[in-house]
Amino acid sequence: MAIAGGVGGVSGFFSASQGRADRWRLVNRHAKALAAGAGSQAETLRRQVADELAALAPLEDFCGYPGPRLMTLVHERLQTGDWTGLARLVQRISAALHANSYRDDPEAWTSEGDPEPHLSDVLPPTLGGKGHARKPYFEVLVVTPGERSTWAATRDAVRRLRRDLDQFIYEPVVVGSLEDALLAAIVNYDLQAVVIFDGFGFASQYDLPDLRQILAPHLPAEGFEADQDLGTLLAGLLRRYRPELDVYLSTDRDVAHLAGSDEAAPIRRVFHGIEELLEIHLSILEGVADRYTTPYFDNLQKYAQRPIGTFHALPVARGKSIFHSNWIRDMGEFYGVNLFLAESSATTGGLDSLLEPTGNIKVAQDKAARAFGGDRAFFVTNGTSTSNKIVQQALVRPGDIVLIDRDCHKSHHYGLVLAGGQPYYIDAYPLTQYSMYGSVAIRPIKQALLKLKAEGKLDRARMLVLTNCTFDGHVANVQRTMLECLAIKPDLIFLWDEAWFGYARFSPLLRRRTAMGGAARLRELFASPDYRRRYEAQRAELAGLDPLDPRLLETELLPDPAVARVRVYETDSVHKSMSSLRQGSIIVVADQDFHTVEAAFKEAYFTHTSTSPNLQIIASLDVARRQMELEGYELVQRALQLSIELRAEINHHPLISKYFRAATPEEMIPAEYRKSGMRDYGLPGWTLAQTSRALDEDEFFLAPSRITLLCGRAGLDGSQFKALLADSYDIQINKTSRNSVLVQININNVPSDLAQLIKALAAISRGIESRLADGGEPEQERFAARVKALVEDVPDLPDFSRFHDAFRENPRGSTNEGNMRAAYYLAYDAAAREYVKLDSEEIEARLANGPELVSAKFVIPYPPGFPIMVPGQVITRETVTFMRKLDVKEIHGYDAAKGLELLRPSALASLREGARGGG
Ligand SMILES: Cc1ncc(COP(=O)(O)O)c(C=O)c1O
Repeated sequence: MAIAGGVGGVSGFFSASQGRADRWRLVNRHAKALAAGAGSQAETLRRQVADELAALAPLEDFCGYPGPRLMTLVHERLQTGDWTGLARLVQRISAALHANSYRDDPEAWTSEGDPEPHLSDVLPPTLGGKGHARKPYFEVLVVTPGERSTWAATRDAVRRLRRDLDQFIYEPVVVGSLEDALLAAIVNYDLQAVVIFDGFGFASQYDLPDLRQILAPHLPAEGFEADQDLGTLLAGLLRRYRPELDVYLSTDRDVAHLAGSDEAAPIRRVFHGIEELLEIHLSILEGVADRYTTPYFDNLQKYAQRPIGTFHALPVARGKSIFHSNWIRDMGEFYGVNLFLAESSATTGGLDSLLEPTGNIKVAQDKAARAFGGDRAFFVTNGTSTSNKIVQQALVRPGDIVLIDRDCHKSHHYGLVLAGGQPYYIDAYPLTQYSMYGSVAIRPIKQALLKLKAEGKLDRARMLVLTNCTFDGHVANVQRTMLECLAIKPDLIFLWDEAWFGYARFSPLLRRRTAMGGAARLRELFASPDYRRRYEAQRAELAGLDPLDPRLLETELLPDPAVARVRVYETDSVHKSMSSLRQGSIIVVADQDFHTVEAAFKEAYFTHTSTSPNLQIIASLDVARRQMELEGYELVQRALQLSIELRAEINHHPLISKYFRAATPEEMIPAEYRKSGMRDYGLPGWTLAQTSRALDEDEFFLAPSRITLLCGRAGLDGSQFKALLADSYDIQINKTSRNSVLVQININNVPSDLAQLIKALAAISRGIESRLADGGEPEQERFAARVKALVEDVPDLPDFSRFHDAFRENPRGSTNEGNMRAAYYLAYDAAAREYVKLDSEEIEARLANGPELVSAKFVIPYPPGFPIMVPGQVITRETVTFMRKLDVKEIHGYDAAKGLELLRPSALASLREGARGGG
């Protein structure tokens, strides 16, 4: 079967649901033509409608709307030639699918001439008409061993359980095999729960080559016994694809025994036999309610309704200082009264305390931990800048060595100054042609650890800090990175800065590449006998090698599962990719030794958390979690689908592609890190299974939703292009490079956003074309020179040089960690500082003959916001050249009027004297 829209390649996988809506639009168009009186064309149109419906049939089986009842009506009208009735019904269905209005509009479920005009069987009487408070709608997948002829009765039996009292309304969808159940879980965005009645078969009733490709890697290699119960296998597979779904199992097996087994871990409740239908119904509602409930937000709303007199700080609380004012009432009118009613500086009234949570904040955090796949989660109301500092301070002790991507966000570097950790900077691979960095490969990280081992300093290596994904979309192979590091340093802690990547948890493709996805896989591996055997074999092979033996770098190292610890921290800017207010961030933890650092973590949290946290940010973190647990799968699939469409539209548009390009994975990731050979998303012949393998095995993967839009060939540098888009086309972009801007697609984007950008690109391209045509040769030459300057004459990107010897314990050693904190504080002494202008002769002389130029500060161009100089770093010619060519306006830590701020050679010398004297 080819699913409508096709699931063959990765783009098809994302767009299966869109393909379905498109196909319904076609049916609609043909049915309308039939109703309008198609004459001699009627038979052709009728056949087209029949063909489209046949192609839709498998997908319709997996979706609750329009459902078998309306589908039967469609087929009846087609067969009896009731073109008007067909057109009306199809129009209704197509519109409802397009707008998702079947989720809250009873009309979508009815049809004139419908034998049951009022859909009391779909929506309870209280919801029968518009204007009622709507109950959230979802669908429940029922997997049954019964013959297809019994499914209608199964559906009716489930529907009869629904009551007016229910908080939500759901529609059952029945399938009869493991493969169909998985396909339904992939394509049906409305599913919230799966009820499995054991005893069903394995194979789909359809021919499903595409689906088999996806499933193959996850299915046991051995064949199945004809009478084998597949319920727990299905539950395990569902957990992998969509962990947020509640799975229930009804079986004849010994349920008490089964319930306690590992097999049943992914199952929310196990029932015996089918006599428990009402219990199942109540459990389904309770399961969804558990995700729906937002303990902090719910309580805050209740708090806002109470007539509370406040005798504490915060005059805006309850809005009186605003609404009684002669002068600032407009603020109240603009924001609305609830913002102020929901404000307090007290932690009473059930508001709980972020600093010492014991009530609804604690519950909300536990739910966030569940949603993001960690053991625990902590809300942070000052952005991931603060989350990173909290983790750094909690885990790093003065003198500890922290391996860190030099391009990490500045919060990590400042965090290290505060904590006293010594950074061991590792360079990301450069993408010089786009004036940006890629990400840090595994090899230089291993090299650093092995060098530390060779120099007897491995015990001081405490943590590895990496950005995942990077600003420009480079996604690490989290699992392999951690495995290889743990093979050298079994208790290394990992801090994955996933400021941009929190949404990835809700994508079955990307989840494995999140910190928590990686931690879960490590836990599985370390418990697996098969992994142990692989480890033992490798140990025998590598035993006794010197740490600097190149074979250790060449081999994919495996850690000893008996010794390695899983200690993983993830920080997410919830506000960047989910529906939290600005600065809403979380720290998610999967650390089996958390008890050893819990007290320090608390101290660090106290250090950085305001004692007046913003209640609305906390509430929005709670609500963002609710949204992602209930519709994150749909939202992320749609966003990824849009991203892939946008990329294709830009790169295949005959005019736009002359001047602009969405950089592909092939262009953004060097081939050595793409062993799978993946070049782009959805290329012809490239299968979803291959994409899945790329995600499992490639060292880097490019997040589709972070689109580097190359604009150099349009003769525009990143800043010019950004300004042009903002000023002339109302399009906002954040990050730029010399010849690109970054376009991000998020869960809020809709197809018309794509249209707006494409229209702008087309207009700019047309403008260039006519300018070149009108301007003749001189203009064309000028344009070509500008393009060359932007695309070819790009400056080299400076690597991290080294810390000055005054900040290194062993200047002759080969490891590059340094006491950055000492340099940072040395610069507090005005006498230790000096300034040198960037274009001065002095700088040239010192670069040529010394004394060395040593930075007193962090110098951080923004965007992208990582330091090109850190305190104590020796400044090289490459860095100076790069600084001179920098084209961003904001460079934190650099004042062009004064020049570079340096540490005086004399101060450095006396520091070294002091160190030698033991001072
Ligand atoms: C990789 C990375 N980490 C952390 C941050 C800081 O996050 P926030 O803006 O939530 O403080 C940013 C901000 O751009 C970032 O790019």
